[in-house]
Amino acid sequence: MLLQLFDAPSSTYTYILADETTREAAIIDPVLGRADRDLAELARHGLSLRWILDTHVHADHETGANALKTATGAGTAVGALCGSVGHDCALEDGELLPLGGDAIRVIATPGHTPGSMSFLWRGQVFTGDALLIEGCGRTDFQNGSSDQLYRSITERLFTLPEHTVVWPGHDYRFRASSTIGHEKRHNPRLANKSREQFCDLMAALKLAPPAQIEQAVPANRHGGALQSGEAVPAMLMAREVEREFDAARDALVDLRDEADFAADSLPSAIRVDGSDIERLAGIARTHRKLFLICRSGRRSLVATDALAKAGIGNVWNVTGGMLALRANSAVALEAHEVRS
Ligand SMILES: [Fe+2]
Repeated sequence: MLLQLFDAPSSTYTYILADETTREAAIIDPVLGRADRDLAELARHGLSLRWILDTHVHADHETGANALKTATGAGTAVGALCGSVGHDCALEDGELLPLGGDAIRVIATPGHTPGSMSFLWRGQVFTGDALLIEGCGRTDFQNGSSDQLYRSITERLFTLPEHTVVWPGHDYRFRASSTIGHEKRHNPRLANKSREQFCDLMAALKLAPPAQIEQAVPANRHGGALQSGEAVPAMLMAREVEREFDAARDALVDLRDEADFAADSLPSAIRVDGSDIERLAGIARTHRKLFLICRSGRRSLVATDALAKAGIGNVWNVTGGMLALRANSAVALEAHEVRS
């Protein structure tokens, strides 16, 4: 199931994709202020939200990621190179995000921003502001690079099967979708254009900066403002960990490799391989709560999910991992910890 939703003020497309059997859903590029609409769509279709994905740190609107996370407990994710400290998961190229019976594949498509990602799911690719319908994202701010964008589109997206449906992050003429084949042949910026021609064309665009860039970029690095309109209180998330963790009754397990663990680890932590689900399950059974931490929060999220699927519900994912903890004391406990 795929729903395409539109925010007129920013011309942003938000997508809800879901597995019809398990009713698990992901939302891509939610917009702040549209959470009620998105939640109503999820409820109307009987869906349970598992992933909140941003294709990149947007400059033209604020993400609704945190608002939806607050409402649903789903994990938020954005490309590792986006420099976000507010998302739970820092995505790398090639990652697979489980959804229902299969997975969303993460494809790094830098250029519009260095951390821009596209998401491939069941023959459909959600391209954010990398590839648009007969266009592409701009590259003149947020450390954009025309050279990188050309390579992302021609080497990563245009190598997908031609019938792959392209769902863009925006369209300013109300067109809904395209295909890889159509864009290869008809995209005026890319069809039969060399890298040099593309870069010259992009350099000549001379676009005005997006109206919301000053507010949107800092807010989006924290997953967007909360529904109240407040900025995300990172310290609150750190306090949650301190409040929740009781060394006498709980276990704190670090899933990073031995070298990283030896170099810097938390006082109460023990190290276990993230793939050793059986051992983690054993630890969970003999403790009140099991807290999992890794480098960025990704391995721990995968392990938390695996344990939840095995019926073990007292596992908490320390979101943002050691990176967030050491960068700004911002560690959150994921709200879906008891899904079992
Ligand atoms: Fe953008």
